[in-house]
Amino acid sequence: MSPPDPGKIPQHVAIIMDGNGRWARQRGLPRLEGHRRGVETVRTVVDAAREIGIRYITLYAFSAENWSRPTDEVSGLMGLLDYFLKRELDNLVKNRVRLRTIGRTEALPASVQRELARVVEATKDFPDWNLVLALNYGSRTEVAAAARDYAIAVRDGTEKLEDASWEKFSRYLDTTGLPDPDLLIRTSGELRISNFLLLQLAYAELVFTPVLWPDFGQADLQAAVDEYTRRERRYGQTSEQIQTGEK
Ligand code: FPP
Repeated sequence: MSPPDPGKIPQHVAIIMDGNGRWARQRGLPRLEGHRRGVETVRTVVDAAREIGIRYITLYAFSAENWSRPTDEVSGLMGLLDYFLKRELDNLVKNRVRLRTIGRTEALPASVQRELARVVEATKDFPDWNLVLALNYGSRTEVAAAARDYAIAVRDGTEKLEDASWEKFSRYLDTTGLPDPDLLIRTSGELRISNFLLLQLAYAELVFTPVLWPDFGQADLQAAVDEYTRRERRYGQTSEQIQTGEK
């Protein structure tokens, strides 16, 4: 097999980290143990992404719907997030990885918000590598808020109704300033998008793997990237147009 074309390495990979609960159940362990192992996978994947040359990685760490899980699981996940942020600060700074968030982080526990603010501030000037955590994130809520803010800007005269476009609207989304994901990976064999980046994934390649998130490693990330490089992204054009470069 010929080596992959570096130009085709995805710039932005979004991941739905799924299967922590099943990983734990298969071992007779509490669900939180699966999440704990899932945090270790986050470190592995962030490091592996840098090695592969992926500049942006967005992880669906806590969805707006995840609040409906049992209270001890929700507080366990918040504790893990707090632990992750405290533990990873030095590593992120050492590797020059910028941390950002999308989602309604103002609803997270105050201690988590403080840690987030600390890590975001400490890494804000790193331009090359980016880790985006989706926290209390849901695409429909994000889009509804963006529509409201865009409407307010039109009402106040900072935007013109006749200039309305995707380009302008997208600046009101949480993801403003981030390129759209080129590749979405979901682990654990589920074939759903689950209210994740619905508009931003418009042209993304989707890769679903049966591997449970705690077992996901560098080789699995590389395999998903290899699958991506084998696919042809046509953006509505024909194969012939893509191959000849004709408009
Ligand atoms: C899905 O597994 C996973 C989650 C809802 C949370 C993902 C969270 C982590 C990996 C840990 C915290 C993250 C960070 C960045 C510190 P599931 O519980 O739905 O698994 P199941 O479908 O097998 O039950």
